[in-house]
Amino acid sequence: MENGKKVKVLIVGAAFAGDLHMTGYDRCKDIAKVVAICDKDESKVRALAREYGLEEYEVYTDYSEAIENVSCDVVDICLPNFLHHEVAIEALQRGRHVIVEKPLATKLEYGKKILKEAEKAGKRVYYAEDWIFAPALIRAKEIIDEGAIGDLLYIRARECHSGSHSPFAQTIEYCGGGSLIHLGTHPLAYVLSLKENRWTELSAVTSGGEDANMLHKGLEGEDWAMCTLKFEDGTRAMVEAHYITFGGMEDIIDFYGTKGRIQIDLTMSSPVKCFSIPGVEYSVEKAEITTGWSRPAVDEKYNLGYVDEIRHFMECIIEDKEAMVGLRGIDGLETLRVINLAYESAREGKRIVNDRL
Ligand SMILES: NC(=O)c1ccc[n+]([C@@H]2O[C@H](COP(=O)([O-])OP(=O)(O)OC[C@H]3O[C@@H](n4cnc5c(N)ncnc54)[C@H](O)[C@@H]3O)[C@@H](O)[C@H]2O)c1
Repeated sequence: MENGKKVKVLIVGAAFAGDLHMTGYDRCKDIAKVVAICDKDESKVRALAREYGLEEYEVYTDYSEAIENVSCDVVDICLPNFLHHEVAIEALQRGRHVIVEKPLATKLEYGKKILKEAEKAGKRVYYAEDWIFAPALIRAKEIIDEGAIGDLLYIRARECHSGSHSPFAQTIEYCGGGSLIHLGTHPLAYVLSLKENRWTELSAVTSGGEDANMLHKGLEGEDWAMCTLKFEDGTRAMVEAHYITFGGMEDIIDFYGTKGRIQIDLTMSSPVKCFSIPGVEYSVEKAEITTGWSRPAVDEKYNLGYVDEIRHFMECIIEDKEAMVGLRGIDGLETLRVINLAYESAREGKRIVNDRL
């Protein structure tokens, strides 16, 4: 890109994830400009733009029309999972880079098609895994790298809450699975990035879906899942993702080393403690109630990594470079491959060895 030019962005999908990304763009106006927003529900486009004080922007309700007409450098895909590949492929074919929300796609074959198309078009796929930019996780990595907990032996990471708000998360066709693909993508992509995808074996268990589920019998995919992994250097990890956690989203990561340990609570460790009889307007993502004692989050979107993730993508586009490990298209694809293998492991009750190493 020309020196001093701002990256022009078309956001597709103006709901929950669209809002997370808008916070990122709002904080990097020096290098990026949202020039258009598309959502099949126009009122959501207007509401999102109003919330962030966007004045000059184009409105679309059809993503093909938006991709065809908007002059932009990148299409940021914040749509339900089943649309990621269709929209990414169309955008790449029209010569735009793409940012794709997690998971890369609902099926591995779709994910592969996205990467193939990017290669053909000479454009990049930026995979939006916010955990990699969570400041607490960056600090943990510094501590591990300085040797303060010795050699890393084991990582336990989980994202859990009481169920997705999105109607598109309820069926396998639209979501790709249940809690493992929808929530487990974060801890999985994170541990894979720490070890540069060099996993050797995995095994997983899930609740199975529908009547076999623990709590959400109407959910086609599983409402509880865990996956253990072993890496080439011997480190082990356990990833957990479920919908049986009330009281707000739980993002907890523990690191165990030969000389110490680190504990991180990304969502419930706000320095603010509040007791409220009427309830605060907002405390933490997915909290069902906010009365009584709560821990209202401080700059939640920054602390979960969305702000620096978007800035990183904008800088990569300006410098015409690939994203860092964990945020490249191939990392999104590997996370999706691991999720699919974890489903196979759970279905067939077997340990799976990585045949790619
Ligand atoms: N990184 C994270 O922490 C995080 C958090 C939430 C969601 N996500 C991901 O972001 C994506 C979107 O999730 P969400 O929670 O915002 O979903 P959502 O269901 O709340 O919203 C989806 C939006 O897409 C619009 N839409 C649906 N079909 C469309 C179409 N054909 N054309 C145009 N617009 C259409 C809907 O009107 C809606 O506004 C999903 O892939 C999800 O996995 C990521």
